[in-house]
Amino acid sequence: MLKLVFSVFGVALAVTPVTAAPQETNAVLLNQGEQIYQDNCALCHQVSGTGSPPTFPALNGNALLGNAARIVRSIQQGTDQMPPFPYLTIEEISAVTSYIRKAWQNTWDDVDIEEVASTLEGSTASDQMTSVWDTVFTEEQANRGQAVYQGACGLCHGRRLNGAPDDPDMSSTPPLARARFLRIWGGRSLATLFSYIRATMPESNPNSLTEQEYTDVIAYMLSVGGMPTGNEELPTDLQQLAHMFIQPRP
Ligand code: HEC
Ligand code: HEC
Repeated sequence: MLKLVFSVFGVALAVTPVTAAPQETNAVLLNQGEQIYQDNCALCHQVSGTGSPPTFPALNGNALLGNAARIVRSIQQGTDQMPPFPYLTIEEISAVTSYIRKAWQNTWDDVDIEEVASTLEGSTASDQMTSVWDTVFTEEQANRGQAVYQGACGLCHGRRLNGAPDDPDMSSTPPLARARFLRIWGGRSLATLFSYIRATMPESNPNSLTEQEYTDVIAYMLSVGGMPTGNEELPTDLQQLAHMFIQPRP
């Protein structure tokens, strides 16, 4: 009896390398894609792929995912409402696109590197990334942002941007500067922060400020976090903001 089990096991082992090789590559690709998804996308589309409709669409069961070229372009170049990710390499876009097309209940095919490259016509990941510590806003802009903040955000997020974790009179709100904020937002781009804030804040009235006001508030948040001022204002352009990333420390 014991011998039979071993021999069955032995047969299975002998067969494994032949059939499992493509599956192994696939598993590596999907694992990499899942990590990229969690770091860059789950903020809005959720780990479970359910999103938060109508603000952030679900990716689970979303028929738009059948169009691989559209996903690839949306990731690299963004859309009206979704930030671009110009720093993701062709390999990373292939991995995350394959992942969202396979994750949850989705059953579409992988999208390989050649397909991504031909969709993007050879344009590669941007290496022109600037850190928020590299003087990306002016003092005047941060002052304008402070006025916007006090009118539109301060009531909930606190005068010192500490959030309101324990105040019984208001729902709990997260801090918008310093260590706890940077732990969540470190590694993300200012385009992601901008898109997220515009789509969701002020909580009672999203998308109610001008793009300039949203950008000025971000400048103010950075200044409270200790990032230095410079001679150039933070731009409102999402493509430019996508090249600036939130770095917890200089
Ligand atoms: C700041 C929030 C946010 C983040 C982060 C984000 N998305 Fe989106 N995404 C959106 C919004 C909003 C839409 C709806 C697009 C629109 O209406 O322009 C969307 C749409 C999509 C779609 C639907 C197809 C399409 O082209 O409309 C796909 C696929 C998608 N996102 C994938 C991703 C992937 C992959 C990532 C990470 C690399 C990501 N998203 C990160 C907000 C976000
Ligand atoms: C009515 C109260 C309210 C107002 C006003 C408000 N917020 Fe919020 N904000 C919240 C709550 C509650 C959350 C947590 C929501 C969640 O996690 O879904 C939040 C979350 C956030 C986050 C995500 C922080 C994190 O780390 O998760 C940012 C960024 C943010 N708000 C920025 C702003 C800005 C900028 C303004 C002003 C333009 C603003 N908020 C106005 C209540 C508010």
